[in-house]
Amino acid sequence: MTAQYPALRLRRTRASDWSRRLYAETVLTPADLIWPLFIAEGSGVEEPIASLPGVSRWSVDGIVARGREARDLGIPCIALFPNTPGHLRSEMGEEALNPDNLMCRAVRALKDAVPEIGVLTDVALDPYTSHGHDGLLDAAGYVLNDATSDALVGQALNQAAAGSDIIAPSDMMDGRIGAIREALEGDSHHNVQIMSYAAKYASAFYGPFRDAVGSRGLLKGDKKTYQMDSANAEEALREVALDLAEGADSVMVKPGLPYLDIVARVKAAFEVPVFAYQVSGEYAMIEAAVAAGAAERDPMVLETLMAFKRAGCSGVLTYHAAHAARLLNA
Ligand code: PBG
Repeated sequence: MTAQYPALRLRRTRASDWSRRLYAETVLTPADLIWPLFIAEGSGVEEPIASLPGVSRWSVDGIVARGREARDLGIPCIALFPNTPGHLRSEMGEEALNPDNLMCRAVRALKDAVPEIGVLTDVALDPYTSHGHDGLLDAAGYVLNDATSDALVGQALNQAAAGSDIIAPSDMMDGRIGAIREALEGDSHHNVQIMSYAAKYASAFYGPFRDAVGSRGLLKGDKKTYQMDSANAEEALREVALDLAEGADSVMVKPGLPYLDIVARVKAAFEVPVFAYQVSGEYAMIEAAVAAGAAERDPMVLETLMAFKRAGCSGVLTYHAAHAARLLNA
């Protein structure tokens, strides 16, 4: 004979709003968000990005305004990406080493005007190269590992000197975390953090970002000889292990939602701070669904961000950061 009533009713704790709040296992707050911003030359400039509806490139004054907005919303950190004018792009991406490049000017202006928030700077050569790759090419077009790593060390020191709080190498060269950490220590940047893009996949979700930094039309071929194969998870654990051993303070998984299994496995295996990047193509997918009338933006944004927290993330880089923070503060 089966019992007439269920012994335990899991619906009981879901029956009212106060109870759902009381039993929530995961919290999402504006402090979990990192806001990626694109920088443009000029002043008073706002350039909307067609493939990222609702996202613009801002000149440095606009970046500072966004920094104040982030601070007032409780967002702890901003991530910066420059759109380098074409005449400053080159085969070797030397503009990355210029102490007065767009990135460094934006970092200095932000740290000066809004010292209360953190500034994360992306380390990779793609915003500066004429071929759109993250590193230096050999005659066959292969991205050289160690020569690129040397250039990235110079780029990282340049950003740290400008005041960057978090160096975030997104290039996937082997050994670059150790090389950058050693150089930062040697330059007395002891408290400059490294958040490594440890498990970064060769992904179809980066298209709108490449529009935003102006590298889409320039990129020859793909990035599969350095970014990871979407088939692989064990390899992600090896990447994370290496970056931690080399001195990374935290690790990132990228893209985000399609790789939540990687987030959960990394968190379980290493018990270190893990971040995820909800990338441009993910943002564009949500906005396209909203524009098509297929879904509502606000609950979808909050649900996806909660999913990152549930999977084990300490925080999420998302283009919806300011919007989400406004919803969370309401
Ligand atoms: C470049 C870089 C990319 C992103 C962050 N840093 C693109 C790429 O690897 O081609 C993608 C972010 C996004 O799509 O939002 N090193």
